[in-house]
Amino acid sequence: MSKRKARLTIDGIEKAFELPVYEGSTGPDVLDVRSLAGEGIFTYDPGFVSTASCDSEITYIDGDKGILLHRGYPIEQLAEKSTFLETCYLLLNGELPNAIEKDTFETSIRYHTMVDEQIHEFFRGFPRTAHPMAMLCGVVGALSAFYHDTLNIDDPQHRLMAAHRIIAKMPTLAAMCYKHGIGQPYMYPRNDMAFTESFLHMMFSTPCEEPRVSPTLAKAMDTIFLLHADHEQNASTSTVRLAGSSGANPYACIASGIAALWGPSHGGANEAVLRMLNKIGDESRIDDFIARAKDPNDSFRLMGFGHRVYKNFDPRAKVMRQICDEVLDEFGADDPLFRVARKLEKIALEDEYFIERKLYPNVDFYSGIILKAIGIPTSLFTVIFATGRTPGWIAHWNEMLSSPYRIGRPRQLYKGKTKRDYPG
Ligand code: CMC
Repeated sequence: MSKRKARLTIDGIEKAFELPVYEGSTGPDVLDVRSLAGEGIFTYDPGFVSTASCDSEITYIDGDKGILLHRGYPIEQLAEKSTFLETCYLLLNGELPNAIEKDTFETSIRYHTMVDEQIHEFFRGFPRTAHPMAMLCGVVGALSAFYHDTLNIDDPQHRLMAAHRIIAKMPTLAAMCYKHGIGQPYMYPRNDMAFTESFLHMMFSTPCEEPRVSPTLAKAMDTIFLLHADHEQNASTSTVRLAGSSGANPYACIASGIAALWGPSHGGANEAVLRMLNKIGDESRIDDFIARAKDPNDSFRLMGFGHRVYKNFDPRAKVMRQICDEVLDEFGADDPLFRVARKLEKIALEDEYFIERKLYPNVDFYSGIILKAIGIPTSLFTVIFATGRTPGWIAHWNEMLSSPYRIGRPRQLYKGKTKRDYPG
């Protein structure tokens, strides 16, 4: 029980309200405002800027200091020493695995990488021009039609099985989205390869040819997945929690997260970065675009800059920047687009407008550039983000269902017409 209390008085109401103050293990305290609803008062916080929607033990962010911890471990250390799959285990289970746990987990993921052959028919139903996120959203939701044996969300074993299935199948589905768009045969996962290597194989191999996956690119891809693995209560994760709070099945919940991620203010930003760089086209045009971004009468924003939480360099962006340099040095330093990106980054970091508003390059600025160098087409960028974010979504969904929860149901400040009679 909380010993500290906040006292709230409201003009026109005699009674003072006592609101308990709770302390987390680190980070800001929260006021428990739940008792206010019983008094006919709601709090007002559009965009949830200062609302904690749940308790969580998974991820901690300090946006001012540029800190991101998963289960206490700094993201920089995980990026250097861990792998995407090990980080998945950590997010799901709370601790790093020992050797046996790691092997058991990886074997289970490997065992579930294939998708039912009927899923091929779903893909064939989509036009070749379909956006990969449209296909991913539909197909992940459709998985619930195939796995009736693990839909009891009250059973921890069912939840675990669904978690492993979704994490394992996401790269397979992501690669199928790509292959469908270019009209090539779908490639099956290779369980003799590491998780990310198998993904690159499904992306770039054909039945006639099996290109060797560069270790630099496989490592870069794995780190991109790892850096996207979770980010506490962001828009898509909150969507997954909200959908899950109604008792919806895990595949439907993850599909709702994919839908929320698609928007350009969230996961769609990496795609928007590349579109913007293409539009800028040449270093000589950068100043015009910077001027547009600063013009309050122009809705144009510099994509890949700014973050709701980070008012400092996003620690993921720091790691990503380093990988970006490594990948570009080996594969693409001559691309004019990359020259534009490097110059844009430099100018924005030195410009008063961006410094004053603490608008640093975010993770999507660099991930788009690296993905292009790896050969991933722009329209697939958000699918890559979704594949990386899947363990985070599932960890939060599972955390919510593992303790008592209520259906999420925000209130509103109603400003519409008051009661009136239908004419006649
Ligand atoms: N370019 C130019 N000005 C910007 C930008 C930008 N990218 N981002 C914010 N601003 C300005 C904004 O106009 C406002 O200025 P003023 O105070 O003069 O009105 C000020 O900075 C604060 O912006 P805000 O809209 O209140 O910030 P927010 O926290 O609501 O938005 C954001 C955060 C990420 C949506 C926004 O910075 C943005 O649209 N960035 C570009 C899109 C992007 O890169 N998104 C990826 C986010 S990271 C990946 C993820 O989490 O999914």
